[in-house]
Amino acid sequence: MHGDHAAQLRGICRRYCHPDGTVMVDALRGVDLQIPRGQYLAIMGASGSGKSTLMNILGCLDRPTGGQYLLDGQDVAQLSDEQLSHVRGKRIGFVFQAFNLIPELTVLENVEVPLFYQGLDRAERRARAAEKIELVGLTARMSHRPAELSGGQQQRAAIARALVSNPSIIMADEPTGNLDSATGEAILGVLDRLHAQGLTIVLVTHDDRIAERSQRVIRLSDGLLMSDVPGGRGASAPVHAMNASAPAEPHA
Ligand SMILES: Nc1ncnc2c1ncn2[C@@H]1O[C@H](COP(=O)(O)OP(=O)(O)OP(=O)(O)O)[C@@H](O)[C@H]1O
Ligand SMILES: [Mg+2]
Repeated sequence: MHGDHAAQLRGICRRYCHPDGTVMVDALRGVDLQIPRGQYLAIMGASGSGKSTLMNILGCLDRPTGGQYLLDGQDVAQLSDEQLSHVRGKRIGFVFQAFNLIPELTVLENVEVPLFYQGLDRAERRARAAEKIELVGLTARMSHRPAELSGGQQQRAAIARALVSNPSIIMADEPTGNLDSATGEAILGVLDRLHAQGLTIVLVTHDDRIAERSQRVIRLSDGLLMSDVPGGRGASAPVHAMNASAPAEPHA
C-alpha cells in the first residue's frame, strides 16, 4: 500500500524548545501530506511558516517531535541515527540556496564526495561523478574550483552532487534564490529534466513562477498545511493528497 508513495506524513509536529525545556515555537503543528512517487511538488508559504522545517524532516536531516513519517514506506522513527544517515545518503539528494560546495575541491571532486562513504574505488567514483556532471551540462568546467564558476554553474555542480548517489528524491530549498532570473530558469530546466526521468522533486520556493512548473503546490501558514492545489503542470495529473488508496501517478 505504501509502494506508490515516496513519503507519507501523518500529524507531523516540530516543536523547538529552549534549553530549559520551555516551548520556543511550534514550527509544524500537525501536517498530513502524501507525496506520490515521481511527483514534482512545490512547498510555498510566508517566511517563518515552516517550509525549511518540513523540508528538513522530509530529508531526514531532522526528526519530528510528533506524528508519523514513512519514507518509502519505512517508519523513520524506528531508525537509529546511523540508519537515518544511511537512508539520507542513499535515497535523498539535497540542493540548497547557498550551493554548499567545498571551495578547495574541483567540481569533479565535489561531486565525488558523497561516494566516499560507499566503498567505491577511485575510478568508479570518477566515472559516476563525471556522468552526473555531464547530465547537468558542466563537463567543460569539471576541473574548476567553485570560485571560478558562475552562480548557475555552482548550482549545477551542487545538483550533480545531489544526483551522484542515484537518489529517488531531490529536495531543493530555494535553489534559485541566489541566482538571476535567466540563470534560475536554466536550473529549473535541469530539475524539469530530472523529473521527466522519474525522480520525485520537492522544492521550497517563494516564487510563483516556479510553482507554475510543478505538478502540485502546497502552502504552509504558521506550521499548518493551508492549501493543496495542482501546479502549472498538475492539470493532467490529479493530486492524491490525503488519499492513500489513489493509484500510482503516471507522470509525463
Ligand atoms: N533551530 C531552530 N530553533 C528554534 N526555532 C526555529 C529553528 N528553526 C526554525 N525555527 C522557527 O520555526 C519557524 C519556522 O521556521 P522555518 O525555517 O521552517 O521557516 P521557513 O518557512 O523556511 O522561512 P523562510 O522562508 O524565511 O526560509 C520560525 O518561527 C523559526 O523562527
Ligand atoms: Mg526556509
